[in-house]
Amino acid sequence: MVYKIAVIGGDGTGPEVIAEGLKVLAAVAKKHKFEYKLEEFDFTGKRYLKTGKLVSDEDIEKLKTFDVIYLGAVGDPAVKPGIIEHGVLLKIRFALDQYINLRPVILYPNVWTPIKDKGPAEIDFVVVRENTEGLYVGTGGYLKKGSPDEVATQVSVNTRKGIERCLRYAFEYTKKRNKRKQLTLVGKTNVLTYAFDLWERAFHEIGQKDYPDIKREYAHVDATCMWFVKNPEWFDVIVTDNMFGDIITDLGAMIQGGMGIAAGGNINPEGVSMFEPIGGSAPKYTGQNVINPLAAIGALQMLLEELGEDKAAADVEKGIKYACTQMKSMSAGKMGMSTTEVGDTVAANI
Ligand code: IPM
Ligand code: MN
Repeated sequence: MVYKIAVIGGDGTGPEVIAEGLKVLAAVAKKHKFEYKLEEFDFTGKRYLKTGKLVSDEDIEKLKTFDVIYLGAVGDPAVKPGIIEHGVLLKIRFALDQYINLRPVILYPNVWTPIKDKGPAEIDFVVVRENTEGLYVGTGGYLKKGSPDEVATQVSVNTRKGIERCLRYAFEYTKKRNKRKQLTLVGKTNVLTYAFDLWERAFHEIGQKDYPDIKREYAHVDATCMWFVKNPEWFDVIVTDNMFGDIITDLGAMIQGGMGIAAGGNINPEGVSMFEPIGGSAPKYTGQNVINPLAAIGALQMLLEELGEDKAAADVEKGIKYACTQMKSMSAGKMGMSTTEVGDTVAANI
């Protein structure tokens, strides 16, 4: 079998970090003897400014023919905020029904964390973020726009089916991860009394009936931010809605060493999934060979897990861990190595 991989370098430093990921992919494919075919897609701010094109329905049909998608970053400062985000990233997530956003928060040895007295033993959990509903649906609008009486609404959409498939994925993931077997629902039941009541009822119903061995916990999202800093070891797997998941995973990225190392996957367990570093396009570092490619290489590790190439994925993780011991910092420009040297270091240790 030859894996078909769609590659979207994207904006800013996206193409540079993806190039390092592809370098590592070539190394593991050689070692583990699998074949793949790459096809690049130019979904960028630059192309949009030139042609007005974003991701079309035909592009989506094309993407459906791939096994996986490997994405660098979206966001171009020359384009008004929201256009590329909606027209490329959210378009793909929604159209391919990638209803899970999986974001591991794992601190590797030798990586600096801003949390004093916490290390790899304490910072090791995974966030399962719902990825197709909530505030991201775009329900709402303006009334009397531009007038002093203007009203803007933005409604969070939560469906029983959407919540249930996300919860089931999270329970299964907790079972498979097989660490503390604890799943924490993160919400705001004290204020968002409709949406998170539905989440909470579904959480306990499904857990009680089908996952009696998984310990169920609940935490408000504001308290969760506090615990991430104070006692990150309390978490094993977290499940939450789209907006809260977006917010807490930036905090999660910081405690695991920063955006330079945080990877994620947009997963449709029955369809085509897309893997990406969770940070942005970091435009000011573009073309300088200083950005950290480890987040993109971590996304490649997740991509290989999705393909079922578990041994290759484990080797990529080993390579990342080794690179961490050789780097001075995870931050752009301070790594003590260039972008390409980090990629070389990982690839050489496969
Ligand atoms: C992320 C990003 C996106 C999101 C933006 C770029 C739309 O912040 O992947 O976390 O909010 O999901
Ligand atoms: Mn985000």
